[in-house]
Amino acid sequence: MPALWEDVYNNPQLLEEIAPIAMDSALLHGVIMRIKENPNSSDMVNFAPFTLLPSPVPRTLFEQAKSVQEDFNLLVDRISQNPSFLEQTLSSAMKVDDFVERLFKVYRHVMDDGLAQSVFLGINRSDYMFDCRADGTTALKQIEINTIAASFGGLSSSTPAVHQHVLRVLEKSEEAGKILSNNPSLGISRGIAKAWELYGSQKAVVMFVVENVQRNIFDQRSIENELWNRNIKVIRRRLTDVQERGTLDENKHLYVDGYEVAVAYFRTGYMPQDYNEQGWEARLMMERSTAVKCPDIATQLVGTKKVQQELSRPHVLEKFLPDQPEAVARIRETFTGLYSLDIGAEGDQTVKIALANPELYVLKPQREGGGNNIYGNEIIEVLERVKDSIERTSYILMDKIKPQPIRSCLLKANGKLQVSECISELGMFGVYVRQGEEMVLNERVGHLLRTKATEHADGGVAAGVAVLDNPYLV
Ligand SMILES: Nc1ncnc2c1ncn2[C@@H]1O[C@H](COP(=O)(O)OP(=O)(O)O)[C@@H](O)[C@H]1O
Ligand SMILES: [Mg+2]
Repeated sequence: MPALWEDVYNNPQLLEEIAPIAMDSALLHGVIMRIKENPNSSDMVNFAPFTLLPSPVPRTLFEQAKSVQEDFNLLVDRISQNPSFLEQTLSSAMKVDDFVERLFKVYRHVMDDGLAQSVFLGINRSDYMFDCRADGTTALKQIEINTIAASFGGLSSSTPAVHQHVLRVLEKSEEAGKILSNNPSLGISRGIAKAWELYGSQKAVVMFVVENVQRNIFDQRSIENELWNRNIKVIRRRLTDVQERGTLDENKHLYVDGYEVAVAYFRTGYMPQDYNEQGWEARLMMERSTAVKCPDIATQLVGTKKVQQELSRPHVLEKFLPDQPEAVARIRETFTGLYSLDIGAEGDQTVKIALANPELYVLKPQREGGGNNIYGNEIIEVLERVKDSIERTSYILMDKIKPQPIRSCLLKANGKLQVSECISELGMFGVYVRQGEEMVLNERVGHLLRTKATEHADGGVAAGVAVLDNPYLV
């Protein structure tokens, strides 16, 4: 990828001048977060960390990511309807991973009862990096697909305006005109609204299920507001609120504080710390209800790393999309090497290749939210410890994707500028709604670019590592 904006990065005085303008622009456009010290109040907010300037992204790879998103939507939805695949794929991980086991217990309960919901809503984000290969070409490779609480669709609807402004101030108005418009908020809310409408009760509400600590609330407010604009009432509740004040009526309609819930949109519930016993009770009650869960428990399980790894086996994609060979090819093109650590010869071989060349791989447990992956020599440490026990099946191994680092300027909450070698991760948002057997909506609804300094192997924006960005297509 070509170096961009070198004239700016090499000019410390210009950087100092432009940084406060950029920060004000972020605040002005609502690219904001609550502060760490006071995460549940909007008394004081700060700009969300972002890059001073957009980062180069190869146009062909961006187009490729766009063109495969509806395929991924369909794939996720189809897997979510296949209990035996989920059971088989997660059978070993759930024996050693309490969280997967607990999720699966909820899933089994719901399957045994029989599904009460007939409308399904998926909001996912497929994440990619641009892998540099030995022959000098760059390829789009999937990091993972997020099927629960995929965030930053709200804030990334406002970041284009910030970069456009900064570029104009730098007298690069032609370049400013090339920043892509982006509005995941609108598309996400369209999906939620469709699910709400199909649920079929005018007075029912959309419930955002939120964390106890709500720093990133503006990202969610952006979607909430789009729903209010459509005259759909939104409430925000924590899992414990639902446990304490939620009920199911005799027809399994979910009520919380007297409101009938049409759609429960999870912005929490993806990691063990999100649940106490009350939380699990609330989750089970919601899953047993007629409310549209986004995601339902099955779709959350589809987002596990173990499922991702199983999908990369020959003939598995074909099983889910037998009618769509082109979609299968598009999806497979984005896969990098994924390896099972299940007990047996294949898993033994995975241990062997990882121990021989740990720098080529990432070891991943069944966790979401950043900061859980294992790299380099730590892979050896962990595998030496677990390689002869079933514990190893809580992990998968993945080829390490190696993007070409490129200079960028990060603006973090402390107001300091950091010009660093960086890598970017592109996310594509997808939304779908299914009613019974019929897919009534399947769309790609926007993108997210996050950039971080190369010294960090892992971690997202919420973790304070990556920052918001925009693709500048080259
Ligand atoms: N195969 C990979 N190659 C290089 N970096 C990776 C790879 N997988 C994950 N990462 C890095 O680790 C981060 C977190 O991994 P991810 O699979 O997205 O898990 P999480 O569910 O915690 O977000 C990614 O944002 C990326 O920076
Ligand atoms: Mg991720």
